[in-house]
Parts: sequence; structure tokens; C-alpha cells
Amino acid sequence: MDYSISKGPVLAQEAELLAVGMLQGEKRLQGAVGAINDVMSGELARLMKAEKFEGEAGSVFLLRSVSGIEAKRLLVIGLGKKADMNAEVIRQAGAAVYQAANKLHVEMPVSVLMGAGGSGLAADQSARAVVEGFGLAAYAFDAYRSKKKPTAVTGLSLVSSDAKHVRSAKKGIEIGRLMAKGANAARDLVNTPGGDMYPEVLVNRAKEIAKGVGTIRVRVYDREELEKMGAGGILGVGKGSEHPPYMVHMVYKPKTKAKKKVALVGKAVTFDSGGLSLKPAQYMEAMKCDMGGSAAVLGAFSVIAEMAPKAEVHGIFGAAENMPSGEAIRPGDVLTAMNGKTIEVLNTDAEGRLTLADTLSFAVKQKPDFIIDLATLTGAAVVALGEEISAIMSNDDKLSIQLMNAAEGAGENMWVMPLEKSYKKLLKSEIADIKNIGGRYGGSITAGLFLQEFVGDAKWAHIDIAGPAFAERPINAYLPKGATGHAVRTLLELLRSI
Ligand code: BES
Ligand code: ZN
Ligand code: ZN
Repeated sequence: MDYSISKGPVLAQEAELLAVGMLQGEKRLQGAVGAINDVMSGELARLMKAEKFEGEAGSVFLLRSVSGIEAKRLLVIGLGKKADMNAEVIRQAGAAVYQAANKLHVEMPVSVLMGAGGSGLAADQSARAVVEGFGLAAYAFDAYRSKKKPTAVTGLSLVSSDAKHVRSAKKGIEIGRLMAKGANAARDLVNTPGGDMYPEVLVNRAKEIAKGVGTIRVRVYDREELEKMGAGGILGVGKGSEHPPYMVHMVYKPKTKAKKKVALVGKAVTFDSGGLSLKPAQYMEAMKCDMGGSAAVLGAFSVIAEMAPKAEVHGIFGAAENMPSGEAIRPGDVLTAMNGKTIEVLNTDAEGRLTLADTLSFAVKQKPDFIIDLATLTGAAVVALGEEISAIMSNDDKLSIQLMNAAEGAGENMWVMPLEKSYKKLLKSEIADIKNIGGRYGGSITAGLFLQEFVGDAKWAHIDIAGPAFAERPINAYLPKGATGHAVRTLLELLRSI
């Protein structure tokens, strides 16, 4: 998508489609919609009233051939009440612009900086949110359709009459563009069926991202090297599959001396059948999403060089396919993780934590200031928080708060759950250091406590993205059914803030 901003009078914009925002419950129409209403001698307000359009968030009003403005069509987008204004409202509005343009086959719609100029947001925030929502809404996954559904839309042109707004909006546009690009890259990986998304494919994607980018390097560990390193978790989970497991370690180094070193660790189970503890068919349907954690890491890395955060960033994942076979690990088998701890595997479907035992141990060895892992880890997280909220668990309250703030800025839903120490007893094994399942209840917390055994004293946060990584039903204007790219924008927001 092609994004730009220019200075100019809104009324004189020659466009197939001009989008403006409208607040709900204001006495007078303000900003661009007010100006247009004025040149129409109040006709716009009368037409909207007749259609009972009040500017409610999520509603739109389309008008063809408007007298007094150059644009061929006017799209008024409801922004809701001023008191409820935030970046997410404008992301949704940006998505609405894309959807209207797509439906009307408009190549280059024009939009004002919705939500800015008195409605509450700064110009750069508005530009970022409009572009982000537009770019996320423009995502389509049609790699597997014989008849593609091409779009006429090639980009978005923003307009503002304020020269200062134009300057700061330029920065906002770039951030919004990269946020959407990163999230959409993750969506492609997660949407790809398990048959075509095996460990080697993730390895190749990591190499592709680093190719020709001076600030990123990649090291790949194959089965033989993993054996030497004692990565019993990744190897154990991958044992039942025809596709060999790998571990990938990417490093981004900023051009000037890094302020902080961060490790991002992703769960990368390319398909989770459950293994010998086989899942029921219905629970398996969406399990191509089980590499969503690594997709978030790769999505962030796909734009990290362009975004150029000041932190050194390590991206780490252990890729394996969890399949049942004569070679597969059995319930009751004991594995040894990279840090030397032994794990009794009582359920082969609790496999993500086995791979993370190794990758977290590996991350600790890089001596980062903090570690964040992302994993579609437990169905229990979905039971606890629903399909749209991730669970954060951390051994450092400041890091939890930092993550909550980043998620808020990114418009992603996350909530903190406790790493309740007294539940550790549920992970006691009769024969090994720890077992891989807890009791019947509190499954996300016991999974978090399991992971904590592999981070030592490092500052660490775990994000269980089992619910939000893959939308079983449409969520909002820019997230239809399918992969969401969840957590990519939060990670990028966090890195930007360092
Ligand atoms: N990949 C699943 C978790 C999951 C569930 C992700 C739903 C996305 C949506 C994970 O490997 C798993 O199977 N967890 C088990 C753990 C149990 C056996 C202790 C679960 O949640 O049932
Ligand atoms: Zn599983
Ligand atoms: Zn899994």
C-alpha cells in the first residue's frame, strides 16, 4: 500500500472518495464535516438526520455527488462520543475507509486526519491509527484460492490544511505502515495450513527476513546440533513428525550502541495434533495456529530494521511438529531440557512448554535485560479471559506494566494473571524434576509456573496468546476470521519505547 500526506483545503480535494470523521452528540458539526456542511448550506446535516446517522462509532454515511466539494463521493465515518475517543476508534475508522474504497473500487481514497484537530488525538497519532487500521483491513489471505479476489485499492492519501500537522503525520504514517506490515506478515504465516508450514518453512522465513539486511543475522541449529546442546524438549516434541525440528536464533543490532538487550521467544509448534495424547478432531481444526508465538516474533523482525528501535533484539524459537507415530514420545517418558532439568511428560499435548523449556534456557544464556515469550500455550487461557484477551504472567511487576502499556498503545487486549507460587506443588513429579501438566484448574497459571523453571533469575514475561492469535469469528473492522497477527504490534510498541 502506498501512503502519503499533503497539505491542502479539504473542500478542493479531487478524489473518488473523501473520508471525514464525525463525533456523536456534538451541538455543531466540527472540523472537516462542519466545513463541508457549511458549503452545502446545512444540507449535509439535514440528510444525515433524515437517515438517522448520528456519528455512532462503527457507522458510516455515504453521499454521492456532493455540491460544493470536488470529491465525487463523501464518506462520513462515525467516531462515537468525544469522551470515548482514542486511537482504537481511529484504527476502526481507517479500516472503514479501506472497506468502502474496496467495495466502490476506488484506487486511492483520500482521508482527513480523523480524530485530530480538537477531537482529542495529536496529528501523528491520528495518521498512525488511520494507516494502521487501513493496512490491517487491507489484509487478505487468498494464496489457496483458485480465483483471487483482487482489490482496486492501491493506497491512501491523507490531507490536512495545517502544515505542522502534515510534518508530524509523516512520522505517524510510517509507524502505522510498519505496524500493519509486521502484523500482516505474521498473519500469512499463521494462516498457512500445517501441511505447508513445517519447521523448515519457518527457518527459511527467518533467513529470508535477514537476507540483505545488515542489522539482522540468523543462526539455525539442526537436529544434530540440538542433540549436542541437550535440547531434549524440542527434540522430544519433534520426534513423531516426518519433518525434522530446528531452533532459530535471530539477532537485530541497532546501528548505534544498544541501550538494552531484549529476547523474544516464540512457541513454534507448526501443527499440534496433540501427539499420542491425540486431540479430538474439532480441537485440532485450528491447530495450524500453534506457531503463532514464533509468527509474532518473525512479524516483528520483518519490520525491525525499518523501524530501527534502539534495543538489541534476540528472536528465538524452537520449531517442531507435534505428531503421533511409532517414533513419538509417550505419556510417561522423561525428557531433559537444555538447562539440565528433567521433565516427566504425562500429556504429549502439553508440548509447547517442552519446546519453550529449551528456548527459554537458551534465551537466558544470551544475558538479556529481559525475556518475553509468546505462546499459544493453553486452552485454559481462553476459558479464563475469552477469545480476545491474552494472559500476561511475569516475575517482574514493572515488566508487566510496561507490557500492559505497550498493548494499550497498540490496541491489543492483554491482562495480567498471577504466577501463584503455591500452585507449584501441582507440577511435582513422582520420578523427575517436574511434570508437564498441573491439576484440573488454573491451567494457564500452572503452564506459566512450568516455564518459570527455565528462566532462572532473568526478568521475564510470558504471554499466552492462545485465544487472540487466531480469530474463530470476526472480531472487528480490521480482524475478520483467521490469523490476527496478535502481539506483533505490542512487541513493536514496546521496542519503540526503549
Ligand atoms: N496448542 C494448545 C493450546 C491451544 C488451545 C492453543 C486452543 C490455541 C487454542 C496446547 O499445546 C495444548 O494442547 N494445551 C493443553 C494443555 C493440557 C494438556 C495440560 C490444553 O490447553 O488443553
Ligand atoms: Zn498441545
Ligand atoms: Zn500446542
